[in-house]
Amino acid sequence: AEHKKRPPVIWLHFQECTGCSESILRSTHPDVVSLLFEMISLEYHETLMPASGIQAEETLHHAFEKYKGEYLLVIEGSIPSDNEGFCKIGCKEAYKLLKEASKYASAVIAIGSCSSFGGIPAVMPELTNAKSVENIIKDKPIVNIPGCPPNPYNFLSTILYLLSFEKLPKLDDKKRPLFAYGRVIHEHCERRPHFDSGRFAEEYGDKGHRLGYCLYKLGCKGPATFANCSVQRFNDVGVWPVSIGHPCIGCTEKDILFKRDIADHI
Ligand code: SF4
Ligand code: SF4
Ligand code: F3S
Repeated sequence: AEHKKRPPVIWLHFQECTGCSESILRSTHPDVVSLLFEMISLEYHETLMPASGIQAEETLHHAFEKYKGEYLLVIEGSIPSDNEGFCKIGCKEAYKLLKEASKYASAVIAIGSCSSFGGIPAVMPELTNAKSVENIIKDKPIVNIPGCPPNPYNFLSTILYLLSFEKLPKLDDKKRPLFAYGRVIHEHCERRPHFDSGRFAEEYGDKGHRLGYCLYKLGCKGPATFANCSVQRFNDVGVWPVSIGHPCIGCTEKDILFKRDIADHI
């Protein structure tokens, strides 16, 4: 059957900004058209589907039934736990919908730092006590693809790996695929020779900053951030935050960005 070749995917959005979906839309190899028409069968995605309202609800429940036990569940966004009414889809609380959707999923992919670790919605003052997918789902294989947004190729490569080998890729202790999150970005950063030689930008716009020196003294979290940004880069134009002069803020790490830095700045 067609869906055997193209695994059915149900994609739900909870507390998020849709930046992760936007990131996927901008991939080029494969592009989103090949992804949707050749690789997977996207059964439900609120941003991309034409249906809305009752029609959309019917599509979702039809997909739950038709692909019971087979579908891959992708979650974008965190789940409120203090105020469940804060995020509802089709009049159903996010928490309940996640439980229902994951029950017959073959695996769950948490795309982005919101669903992987709580992300921006979990930053102080934590109005909704936002939870990650793995905080709630304990009985399914889970892959976290953190990043805010994540590199689309880390998601697409995970899908390709699943299609090719019919199993999940090897993960680290935060459930991140090792092929993408196995090393800190500091290892492959083009500013690394400056770090090793003690040449640092001290302030934005100073001589060192303009000369491309290391951004460690501007707060770069590269030495503690596991991700492939310095190798994979973004948007097919070879840039990533550090290459354009901004320190890494550790967006793929559970505790670096979201629990400390932003909270300190509020
Ligand atoms: Fe948006 Fe970042 Fe959350 Fe993705 S991880 S939904 S880009 S806030
Ligand atoms: Fe490491 Fe950041 Fe300096 Fe690059 S800019 S060498 S990642 S500390
Ligand atoms: Fe995020 Fe740092 Fe990469 S902020 S995008 S992990 S360079």
